[in-house]
Amino acid sequence: MNSVESLSALAASIEAPTGVRHARLLRWVGEIAALTRPSRIVWCDGSAAEYERLCDAMLSSGTLHRLDPARRPGCFLARSDPSDVARVEDRTFICSAREEDAGPTNNWVDPREMRQTLQRLFDGCMRGRTMYVVPFSMGPLGSPIAHIGVEITDSPYVVASMRIMTRMGARVYDVLGESGNFVPCVHSVGVPLTDGAADAPWPCNPKNKYIVHFPEAREIWSFGSGYGGNALLGKKCLALRIASVMGRDEGWLAEHMLIIGVTSPAGEKRYVAAAFPSACGKTNFAMLIPPAGFEAWQVTTIGDDIAWIKPADDGTFHAINPEAGYFGVAPGTSYESNPIAMETLRANVIFTNVALTDDNDVWWEGMTATPPAHLTDWQGRSWTPGCGRPAAHPNARFTVSATQCPSLDPQWDNPAGVPLSALVFGARRSDTMPLVSEARSWDEGVYKAATMGSETTAAAGGAVGEVRRDPFAMLPFCGYHMGDYIQHWLDMGSRVAHPPRIFSVNWFRKGDDGRFVWPGFGQNMRVLKWIFERCADRADAAETPLGYVPRYDDFDWNGFDFGPRRFSSVMHVDVGQWEQELSSHDAFFERLGAKRPRILMNERDRLAGRMAM
Ligand code: OXD
Ligand code: MN
Repeated sequence: MNSVESLSALAASIEAPTGVRHARLLRWVGEIAALTRPSRIVWCDGSAAEYERLCDAMLSSGTLHRLDPARRPGCFLARSDPSDVARVEDRTFICSAREEDAGPTNNWVDPREMRQTLQRLFDGCMRGRTMYVVPFSMGPLGSPIAHIGVEITDSPYVVASMRIMTRMGARVYDVLGESGNFVPCVHSVGVPLTDGAADAPWPCNPKNKYIVHFPEAREIWSFGSGYGGNALLGKKCLALRIASVMGRDEGWLAEHMLIIGVTSPAGEKRYVAAAFPSACGKTNFAMLIPPAGFEAWQVTTIGDDIAWIKPADDGTFHAINPEAGYFGVAPGTSYESNPIAMETLRANVIFTNVALTDDNDVWWEGMTATPPAHLTDWQGRSWTPGCGRPAAHPNARFTVSATQCPSLDPQWDNPAGVPLSALVFGARRSDTMPLVSEARSWDEGVYKAATMGSETTAAAGGAVGEVRRDPFAMLPFCGYHMGDYIQHWLDMGSRVAHPPRIFSVNWFRKGDDGRFVWPGFGQNMRVLKWIFERCADRADAAETPLGYVPRYDDFDWNGFDFGPRRFSSVMHVDVGQWEQELSSHDAFFERLGAKRPRILMNERDRLAGRMAM
């Protein structure tokens, strides 16, 4: 460090609030300030007053637009730069010391080389900007299963969003004390403001984006993007990629799963965690409203995206949602598809890239059957129905606190987590996969999850309808070799006396007419009830090559006219399709090379043998 840098390091530590007694934190903040050279450092306290100050400043700079206080109290709209609208998987790196530890499904760069690149990129990158120090806890503050991160960022939008999405603020410094562990997360939009240059409403670097993880050092560096998972580093970067590595090393699981509570009319309660790739209606399932005929059942929400799952003393796995808010996809959300989300979004929301109505409210595709006659689209342009462009970006988002969710489970903040009865793995398949099946064993369940594949949708970009293998819905989020990850799952089955049962579901089966056969949404409660009763050993099933499946009469059809023919068209297993499916599994296993677990190969052969019966 040269003398100017050490002066700046000193300045940073002197400005730290009195509660900050952590020498490594002080030193690190000083070092990052010396590298990035911001004009000001703000240590965030997470207070409402601070949030208001940030929002006021973003209203003045044009980053935020205030929505109608009567229709959407406390709500804002942000419009991102059109080049910065989603996670950038091709710019996301796992820089483990050895390439083989990142595996074939991650981008890897030698950590020494990447550190040099980052030093160059971050050198002076915050000039003219404020650097915020954002302390946050993933999981209930002070809980033994929570982990602390500190994000340094030059984006006030990120600070405000982190306050919604995590337990953020000064109390984290108390938990850290003088020497507690934290994951250092450095983020910059990558646009220094030199010579008094004017700022853009959504600064980002169009040429250089890097989302970098150092798994051994448990460090995250993100450059060039201000959007979602690229920039709110507690979410995909810490709670999945880094936490999955912690889980491997410490004997637990960090998963891309929602968590719900299901309560029967008799008052019996079970918890279910479910993994789905993006664009499979995860938030809708997390906020399911039971349909007519199931009024006495209740589904409550613990989380909509991430679960940390740990062996507990009672012989079960307990799960917590490490997040404190929802960063959900807005398009497609309506009072039809997800009334609970719509109620959650009535106040105190930051909307990003949705359309603006002429009376200063929000709209997106699918929110109402008929669009308003005129809107301002996500890029601020005048929009009318039929103009040929979507009004909201397909990946437009809402950021809202979990505490606003009417179906929030009373246990959502319990530091001990909730015991899991079932794990559900689902993906989007128009054929091949039945509506539901149950694995006979943990290993068979791991096989089902490891071979998940989902058809790509228009929202994801690329070819539509192609099956992408997405093991455990973790393909973009696993911080280490996918073969080791699957082996870790196999090992975890024997870590508790009562592991959850494993189910596979598919809401998206299509008929010969190309239309969805299963109505999905609230009707998924019928599948959930069967799963619930299987866990209680009360529901019958038939044994098939794919495991246990419900027969028509094993489902509760009360209040719903769905005949046996339609049921068999969502349950049907076509041996020809399964031949193709198995060869596609094999192609994926090939990619895992020598690290494909032997137990998985045995499961594959058993399945092939059963299919040939
Ligand atoms: C998300 C995702 O944003 O999975 O949750 O892409
Ligand atoms: Mn997700």
